Amino acid sequence: MEFIIQNLEELPEVAKEIKKQLVHKIITFEGEMGAGKTTFIKELVKSFGTNDEVSSPTFSIVNEYDTDEGKVFHFDFYRLNHEDEALDFGIEDYIYSNQFCLMEWSNKIANFIPDEHHTISIKNVDGIRYLNFE
Ligand SMILES: Nc1ncnc2c1ncn2[C@@H]1O[C@H](COP(=O)(O)OP(=O)(O)OP(=O)(O)O)[C@@H](O)[C@H]1O
Ligand SMILES: [Mg+2]
Repeated sequence: MEFIIQNLEELPEVAKEIKKQLVHKIITFEGEMGAGKTTFIKELVKSFGTNDEVSSPTFSIVNEYDTDEGKVFHFDFYRLNHEDEALDFGIEDYIYSNQFCLMEWSNKIANFIPDEHHTISIKNVDGIRYLNFE
């Protein structure tokens, strides 16, 4: 499913539509630096219903939010050097927690991603975002 997003105002509607389509709780996000992964995750978590502030977990690797859909874990693996580091902080416990796991730069931990997951890839072409949901 592809969405074409012209500006930030269009994001909430796309997030709501994707929320309706979710059947898995593991969602990986693909796209270059600055593509809009964190921005979209903010909107998706908002659509789950939350008062928590959603921000990039670049330095902490994982943020946790309380939402009406339960706990949501938001990862950014960009700074991870090796998959072993993910094991050290308990990546498997998160993945099998049956809570939402939203993952930026999950290619760094590719071996831990179960088959049953969604992928959202975002491409920025001259300020227009092409978002693909699988
Ligand atoms: N749909 C959009 N329309 C307009 N601007 C956007 C959109 N999505 C993101 N942006 C802008 O692009 C910039 C980068 O977005 P964001 O931080 O979400 O990227 P990212 O993919 O998470 O990057 P990184 O790989 O560094 O984590 C921000 O300034 C944000 O406001
Ligand atoms: Mg980001």
